[in-house]
Amino acid sequence: MISYEELLNLYPRAYGGSNLPLPGKSVGKVRDGYPLPGGKRLIVTTDRLSAFDRILAKVPYKGQVLNQLSAWWFKQTEALIPNHLISVPDPNAALVADAKPLLVEVVVRGFISGVTTTALWYRYELGERQIYGYTFPEGLHKNQALPEPIITPTTKGMAGAHDERLTCAEVVSKGLLEASLWEQVQAAALAVFKRGQELALKAGLVLVDTKYEFGRTPDGRLLLIDEVHTPDSSRFWKADTYESRFATGQEPENFDKEFVRLAYAGQGYRGEGDIPSMPDSLWATASKRYITIYEMLTGKAFSPGIYPVEPRLLENLRKAKII
Ligand SMILES: Nc1ncnc2c1ncn2[C@@H]1O[C@H](COP(=O)(O)OP(=O)(O)O)[C@@H](O)[C@H]1O
Ligand SMILES: [Mg+2]
Repeated sequence: MISYEELLNLYPRAYGGSNLPLPGKSVGKVRDGYPLPGGKRLIVTTDRLSAFDRILAKVPYKGQVLNQLSAWWFKQTEALIPNHLISVPDPNAALVADAKPLLVEVVVRGFISGVTTTALWYRYELGERQIYGYTFPEGLHKNQALPEPIITPTTKGMAGAHDERLTCAEVVSKGLLEASLWEQVQAAALAVFKRGQELALKAGLVLVDTKYEFGRTPDGRLLLIDEVHTPDSSRFWKADTYESRFATGQEPENFDKEFVRLAYAGQGYRGEGDIPSMPDSLWATASKRYITIYEMLTGKAFSPGIYPVEPRLLENLRKAKII
């Protein structure tokens, strides 16, 4: 495992953003995208860490972990739903089929939990029993498994905007998707989530909830796009301690980036106003955690890519004849 000292040395070179000689760059919170000829797209995953819809810091190797972990999950789930991935020309980049993202983000939840205003537990604790169009019984406990995973869609917020909660029925009634396509999306999301929970459990992790994005190619094919079951898009708990901690009313052991959110929330920061700078110990712990999750889930040793990222990436893109 990479040492704390190595990470500190690397920090000034953490990958904050790309500047490739390609037209049409789009910049997301974590990824830069470049449209390519022939209906393709290059997605470059940077080391930016976002929470509360803000960029809080750069985390060495985070981009590589997200890119390679998503690629692994795409492979594990390709029999359930086709996905956008064509190849991985560099540890931080993916060549994908360019798709038109659907206007809904598909959140799947296996547990009643969470602290943000959109979380099930937050609403339940307020006394709501109709949440996202589902009826919840009395007597549920925080962090309890739901009888079946449920889909709680949100609108795909434009840059800077927060996502809005929707019910499954509203996805169709608000005209965001046709009913038949939405049926297809829901079935795919639940199947991928189920597979995700099974594989996570084998790796000692509970896949608690996640967010999927789907897109459509110009010829109308539905694809799973963006990222899958990464610590950015998903929450994981340690499986071996979940039951005993739940039984005694303790919080599960988080194993995702929730600790970063909690550290900021503890300082009173929830996404508004000036962003407090992140202490070294926090981003370094994040870096190690991303790598550990990659290794646990894939069962493979993480092979750190060379820094700085951009010259290496350029060379790999030339080799792959992408630029
Ligand atoms: N295959 C694809 N075709 C087109 N757009 C995609 C594809 N996969 C992902 N995207 C988009 O690329 C962006 C990824 O960057 P990211 O930093 O994750 O963005 P965001 O800030 O929206 O989370 C997202 O807007 C996502 O919808
Ligand atoms: Mg994203």
